[in-house]
Amino acid sequence: MSLDAIAIASDHAGVEVKTEITSLLRGQGHDVVDLGTNGPESVDYPDFANAMAAALKDGRAGRGILICGTGIGISIAANRHRHVRAARCCDSTDARLARQHNDANVLVLGSRTAGWETARDAVLAFLGTEFEGGRHMRRVEKMS
Ligand code: RB5
Repeated sequence: MSLDAIAIASDHAGVEVKTEITSLLRGQGHDVVDLGTNGPESVDYPDFANAMAAALKDGRAGRGILICGTGIGISIAANRHRHVRAARCCDSTDARLARQHNDANVLVLGSRTAGWETARDAVLAFLGTEFEGGRHMRRVEKMS
């Protein structure tokens, strides 16, 4: 159990991107908790959003990355959980601002909409950016 750990999950549409991101992060020395799915068989993205919410709640990870075809379904499902602030990001600017202003704890990517380099840059921006706090803290608190 470590809040430094990063949980990752996807549906079948996001498996390949999940594999790429997992190897990138493990190569950088991060502790990555893989919540599945791990094959091409069709699955339902809410199940993986729920698995992410559980991993964040019980402290197996402090941050997460979710991937589905567009990133839309899995972000809607993840944000049903009050402790999850999942931000669907199209690029590294979105990812940086999602951390600085929204204290997003889950980055969401669309495997069918973001190319690999864009996705990689978003991951690096998300993990490398701190929440700015201040006026943004008040707004984030109003959501929980
Ligand atoms: C799966 O085909 C697809 O619907 C899913 O990955 C996602 O894009 C839903 O929002």
